[in-house]
Amino acid sequence: MKKLCLLGLFVSLASHQVLAATTPVPLENKDAFISDLMKQMTLDEKIGQLRLISIGPEMPRELIRKEIAAGNIGGTFNSITRAENRPMQDAAMRSRLKIPMFFAYDVIHGHRTIFPIPLALASSWDMDAIGQSGRVAAKEAAADSLDITFAPMVDISRDPRWGRSSEGFGEDTYLTSRIAGVMVRAYQGATPSAADSIMASVKHFALYGAVEGGRDYNTVDMSPVKMYQDYLPPYRAAIDAGAGGVMVALNSINGIPATANTWLMNDLLRKDWGFKGLAVSDHGAIFELIKHGVARDGREAAKLAIKAGIDMSMNDTLYGKELPGLLKSGEIEQKDIDNAVREVLAAKYDMGLFKDPYLRIGKAEDDPADTYAESRLHRAEAREVARRSLVLLKNQNETLPLKKDAKVALVGPLAKAPIDMMGSWAAAGRPAQSVTLFDGMSSVIGDKANLIYARGANITSDKKVLGYLNFLNFDAPEVVDDPRPANVLIEEAVKAAKDADVIVAAVGESRGMSHESSSRTDLNIPETQRELIRALKATGKPLVLVLMNGRPLTILEENQSADAILETWFSGTEGGNAIADVLFGDYNPSGKLPVTFPRSVGQIPTYYNHLSIGRPFTPGKPGNYTSQYFDDTTGPLFPFGYGLSYTQFALSDMALSSTTLNATGKLDASVMVKNTGKRDGETVVQLYIQDVTGSMIRPVKELKNFQKIMLKAGEQKVVHFTISEDDLKFYNSQLKYAAEPGKFNVQIGLDSQDVTQQSFELL
Ligand code: NOJ
Repeated sequence: MKKLCLLGLFVSLASHQVLAATTPVPLENKDAFISDLMKQMTLDEKIGQLRLISIGPEMPRELIRKEIAAGNIGGTFNSITRAENRPMQDAAMRSRLKIPMFFAYDVIHGHRTIFPIPLALASSWDMDAIGQSGRVAAKEAAADSLDITFAPMVDISRDPRWGRSSEGFGEDTYLTSRIAGVMVRAYQGATPSAADSIMASVKHFALYGAVEGGRDYNTVDMSPVKMYQDYLPPYRAAIDAGAGGVMVALNSINGIPATANTWLMNDLLRKDWGFKGLAVSDHGAIFELIKHGVARDGREAAKLAIKAGIDMSMNDTLYGKELPGLLKSGEIEQKDIDNAVREVLAAKYDMGLFKDPYLRIGKAEDDPADTYAESRLHRAEAREVARRSLVLLKNQNETLPLKKDAKVALVGPLAKAPIDMMGSWAAAGRPAQSVTLFDGMSSVIGDKANLIYARGANITSDKKVLGYLNFLNFDAPEVVDDPRPANVLIEEAVKAAKDADVIVAAVGESRGMSHESSSRTDLNIPETQRELIRALKATGKPLVLVLMNGRPLTILEENQSADAILETWFSGTEGGNAIADVLFGDYNPSGKLPVTFPRSVGQIPTYYNHLSIGRPFTPGKPGNYTSQYFDDTTGPLFPFGYGLSYTQFALSDMALSSTTLNATGKLDASVMVKNTGKRDGETVVQLYIQDVTGSMIRPVKELKNFQKIMLKAGEQKVVHFTISEDDLKFYNSQLKYAAEPGKFNVQIGLDSQDVTQQSFELL
């Protein structure tokens, strides 16, 4: 039994519980318990709870423990083992009121076992697989004493120049909202107070994915209708699924930084949406209010943030410094502070920490002997999820799957890149535990002489870019640079190619190229790798490109030269095995793009669900005065929802159960899906709806539902979707969410472009 303490609170008798000396307030009564605790807190102790610090080399641990014991810190992040966090919780238990600390971390796509990046998870369109990735992450993180994650990141991103596109679930509101709910439920399990659950804090509230020009931290200017219709629903879905926290975005929204935005944080989030959880600022965001130009100084910044409802301040000292003075002068009220404190304490309560501050820390004798032990990983789950997230973009002449006895030249800077396999925000994943593509292919190709490896190119030959990418990593340069001249690397690869039956080239971005603060003006594969691809093409050998990247790339030329292209994103700890499973046909690819691939950077934005316009461009009917770029083909390279399989699927007999629908009714949309090829396989049947005429311009189509189905070779099945009035609602110019009577087109397809259509009337 831990040493227990007095709070003036009564709690039950289980071990580790916070004991009470006087007033018996049962722990079971959350509100009364928190109110009672708050009555006993000094102003300093209250303000201490609002402080969230990052544990890094800049602050000695001993000092941190002192501060915790003095009641000056509410939680930490970036400290991620039981052995590290236990002494901090011990320090909290030595503080006057023994209020437990919480320990946070960016568990974004796995914790120790790294799953594919979120954009890749979305490519699976497989809610069970995505949920499994979140559940495993939660279990691993909780086993490492973590209580809360800064995830899921559900920022809709329609601009692939933005480096954080990799961290979200793509461009579509419906798909992202579905995943938001799945992820929250996966992290939190049945309840965030369970020992193997972690609390989810959805981010970045709000609209961070819409930063102007795709440049990180830039401003966001957006009409209310667009916000409500396209960008806000995923956050709402996460909150409706019970997310205990929200992380506030670094950007401004229509001239007001989110961190000082009372409309966003109070009117919308708390009043309209009923959010009662914890609002955490992003790193240093309160201080940045000065840079945004809405606060004269730290004092005003702290005032704006607390007034807006920012409960915890991440890594800045302004609340501690300024709130007492602001309160004294009457510029803020006690209730401003109390509301924030209450939300912090309530979150801790919901994480189960008042019942047991050591719930996830456990006992020292149970600490893992080796934090990095293989036995702590969930490799089978990671491989299964990863292979479901790969997207086959091209497969001319059935180049894939490869024969297992083929002689393969494996080239490219990403073929042996353990750190890149993990992608950005790889939590506590270890590169040494990643299976690279080389490793994965080696396990399949028994005869070592049949796998000839040559690096072929560096990630980039641009030293400035290289410097930037390596600067982002604080420990060691993460982008390896082979000092040999580019032509020598290429010659070696060409020689390997000539000796082989087929070339597999692993090309794309290093993981740091799709990360926070990694915006790009150019979405090509870096030039030095393109030179390699050209030289490989010139050998005349079948060329398979295995793309690794965290955003859509512009691969017009590569799409012409390659015989097959497999989009693998950054596929995680088991990525190499998963990719090999697909390359050699042990798994039939089933992923679909959650983002549009533009032909060129100049086409951006190219999202599929754009609004109707007066002079639309009709493919195949070029002409002046329609909406097009005259210097390139109009339309994307690969549309949203696109992805091939080693088998073929055909849709037929689309039918609607009725040509009309009334407000309370339901309509069945069905289609026959047949696997017309020779292999069993899965595909994603997608339902899009267009509101043809409305009081406002409506999108040309919107994803409203989908089903991922498995069909054996030759098998066929009727897929049904139910449509009700709810699916037809939208925010009108008065921000009223309602459906309008009239004609609707229903489209069903295996991607967003190639669809079959029927119509009905909403009465
Ligand atoms: C800044 C990032 O914007 C945010 O997503 C992350 O959660 C915090 N840093 C903490 O690491």
